[in-house]
Amino acid sequence: MLDIKITLTQNKKEKPDQSKLGFGRYFTDHMFVMNYSDGAWRDPRIEPFHDLVLSPAAMVFHYAQEMFEGMKAYRAPDGTIRLFRPDMNAKRLNRTNDRMIIPQIPVEDFIQAVKTLVKVEEDWIPTAEGTSLYIRPFIIATDAQLGVHPAHNYSFIIICSPVGAYYAAGINPVKIFVERQYTRAVKGGTGFAKVGGNYAASLIGQKEAEDMGYAQVLWLDGIEHKYIDEVGAMNVFFVIDGEVITPTLEDGNILPGVTRDSCIQLLRSWGCKVTERKLAISEIAEANAAGKLDEAFGSGTAAVISPIGELNLDGNKMILNGGKIGPISQKLYDELTAIQWGKKEGPEGWSVVVD
Ligand code: COI
Repeated sequence: MLDIKITLTQNKKEKPDQSKLGFGRYFTDHMFVMNYSDGAWRDPRIEPFHDLVLSPAAMVFHYAQEMFEGMKAYRAPDGTIRLFRPDMNAKRLNRTNDRMIIPQIPVEDFIQAVKTLVKVEEDWIPTAEGTSLYIRPFIIATDAQLGVHPAHNYSFIIICSPVGAYYAAGINPVKIFVERQYTRAVKGGTGFAKVGGNYAASLIGQKEAEDMGYAQVLWLDGIEHKYIDEVGAMNVFFVIDGEVITPTLEDGNILPGVTRDSCIQLLRSWGCKVTERKLAISEIAEANAAGKLDEAFGSGTAAVISPIGELNLDGNKMILNGGKIGPISQKLYDELTAIQWGKKEGPEGWSVVVD
């Protein structure tokens, strides 16, 4: 159990208009900070939100030894504050930390830190339809030294941001460009870990796709550029002839999404056939040509369920489900958001009350 010292701000910010939140543009009044030194995490505290003071030699700036997580707090109709499967984020954080040689944080300490900050910031949880408080825990290596080695000093920080939809399109289908040239991750690398480096590697593809009018790119495997990985900010699902197929986690290239896992569990509980396997992009093109590609969607904490309306593969534009949201995407969106916002009882342990 952490002994969290709380210092409240004397200068509360004005809250933004809930109808214009967008994603990750506003930050709340406080942040959680805990430092690692001499072999232990110490000094857990909540402080007024502030800029960081770091040496320009801090290792995070040079060798990107860092990680992050993404989760949300929701205001339920009964007034309670809910988190969605926070234990999954805590466990994933530690799997990422192991890959990045960052010291682990006990699951219960992580959840306590998140809950305590969310409680302090509860006035910031927006209540408008589809809005929530996005929570961004992250860890950075702070040692001031330029040799390439794992650091000895770290800061674990949590910030919060009231958000609306991740994509400007909201729940409307997004256009995705299939990336053939660049690679996001490769077997043995950090694709399964939530680290900034994966996103840095994706920026050039993302920019080129955006310049062509696409919301994101669909990453293919880094060896053959043949098998589907993920969409950077989302995992992906395809519905072919009634069967739901999503890329397997086995190669370690893709993020084990909390929303991905929740979708699989919900779909199976409804009796849908869900298969996790290697999925070649050529299969998608063939299924589409044969009229068997029913629908496709992305899943993520930020993106929730985001239907895919168009896939551009080598200049061929595949329009999915007439560019409209498909029935499975819609059902998953409705069910998942009802559970997350505490409007409906979900599986045991999914909706966690912050008290
Ligand atoms: C999330 O869905 O929480 C993410 O971290 C994806 C993206 C915003 C980087």
